[in-house]
Amino acid sequence: MPIKVNFKNSALKKTSANLVLFVDEKFSTNSLRKYISNSELSYISDLLKTTDLSKNLLVFELSSKKKVVLVSIKKNIKNSEIENLGAELFGRINYGKNSEYFINSDSIAINQKNFIGYFLHGLKLKSYEFKKYKSKKDSRIININVIGNKNKLPPNELLKFKALEEGTFYTRDLVSEPGNVLHPDEYAKRLNSLKKFGLKVNIYNEKKLKKLGMNALLGVGQGSIRGSYLVTIEWNGARNNSKPLAFIGKGVCFDTGGYSLKPAKFMEDMTYDMAGSAVVVGLMKNLALRKAKINAVGVVGLVENMVSGNAQRPGDIVKSYSGKTIEILNTDAEGRLVLADALTFTEKKFKPKFMVDLATLTGAIIVSLGSEYAGLFSNNDKLSKELINAGEKVQEKLWRMPLHKNYDKLINSKNADMQNINYVGGAGSTTAAQFLQRFILNNTPWAHLDIAGMAFSKYGGALNSGGATGYGVRLLNQLIKDHYE
Ligand code: BES
Ligand code: MN
Ligand code: ZN
Repeated sequence: MPIKVNFKNSALKKTSANLVLFVDEKFSTNSLRKYISNSELSYISDLLKTTDLSKNLLVFELSSKKKVVLVSIKKNIKNSEIENLGAELFGRINYGKNSEYFINSDSIAINQKNFIGYFLHGLKLKSYEFKKYKSKKDSRIININVIGNKNKLPPNELLKFKALEEGTFYTRDLVSEPGNVLHPDEYAKRLNSLKKFGLKVNIYNEKKLKKLGMNALLGVGQGSIRGSYLVTIEWNGARNNSKPLAFIGKGVCFDTGGYSLKPAKFMEDMTYDMAGSAVVVGLMKNLALRKAKINAVGVVGLVENMVSGNAQRPGDIVKSYSGKTIEILNTDAEGRLVLADALTFTEKKFKPKFMVDLATLTGAIIVSLGSEYAGLFSNNDKLSKELINAGEKVQEKLWRMPLHKNYDKLINSKNADMQNINYVGGAGSTTAAQFLQRFILNNTPWAHLDIAGMAFSKYGGALNSGGATGYGVRLLNQLIKDHYE
């Protein structure tokens, strides 16, 4: 159910409306006297005597119209834990008819910057749903009113939270769209519309890509009736013209596997094979909305991996933008081909401070890490540490995986400079990353995030209710916030 948040100045006195109040770890109710009546207080206190207090959140139904939700705040609570409490609140109020809740920020006893901001952020992230294609529209709404004179959220901080939510939701929207709607032509068109936020958008179509020599990317898309594109999205928010931070995303709008066809069970999910690109796009939108004081560029390769009389064959050899030749032994290892050209191009054209790419690249990373951590592969320890720390803070965790030159022999080819799969088997995610590394020609600090297990969640997690997660947007925003602006 969608939620709407209002900030009210008044400190609402005792009323008949639903209330959210913050208490300490022991659910001490002494401080609540100001916000609820004596009879309500004694009713709650009595119930608390027989209640399991290990919960974070307790709901008391005082009448058919009035609920009081007590949220317990432990000492030294982390921002991510505050977000989880907000998300948990959504779970407890998301049912029935339209409803209205008053969150009393005066009742927050601890001193933590942006407490209400983090709380609402968690609530909103959890409330997202993609219902565009349901004929029956649900018009119910939850109205949230934040009241109280203490713990106010300054307007500039509110704007940052909102930008991050909008960026994340844009990513989730793109990932949720089916392949017949969000094909590369449509995707490129939508990206063009981001100009209205002050982003500079450049679209390279097939004709331009051919001229540039991006044959690795073009080969993947050649079996599709849709076009193939490379799109650059620039945000210049720094006062000087410092080197940009670069974010590169795999945008395979649908991955059938090509002639190395996927079985149906594995193919049905492949509408989210463009999630890496969607994270880049959502991040750029967020940076523009909050007018980040940095220079950044997003680069996405948009293709559709299809089967047709014109599609790429196993055994084909293509010459990439870097000049290196690739033997395509498996047309289903297509993401690395798209990223190869995008990485070389980004490094050459923008000379970035660093490059971070995101891709739903390998099923093998799901075998390794499941849906808890994304795989991190990097040529740079400092960038790796910064990313891992940022991920911890926003609950988008990363686990560093190895790169090593000894893996290189597995992708050397007899007929070309390299082949796109590892013919011996094993270390599927590392050999894919090792392949990507060959397309960074000037040693630019680089990190590759394999998000195959993180981009989509069947059952939902702490901050999402199932479906597209938007994993990566908040992680990269945190990285920028902590170290680059
Ligand atoms: N898009 C897939 C990887 C993937 C699998 C993403 C499951 C999300 C969920 C990728 O293009 C792919 O097909 N990879 C192959 C590589 C193999 C042919 C070397 C894979 O992982 O099986
Ligand atoms: Mn594939
Ligand atoms: Zn793929």
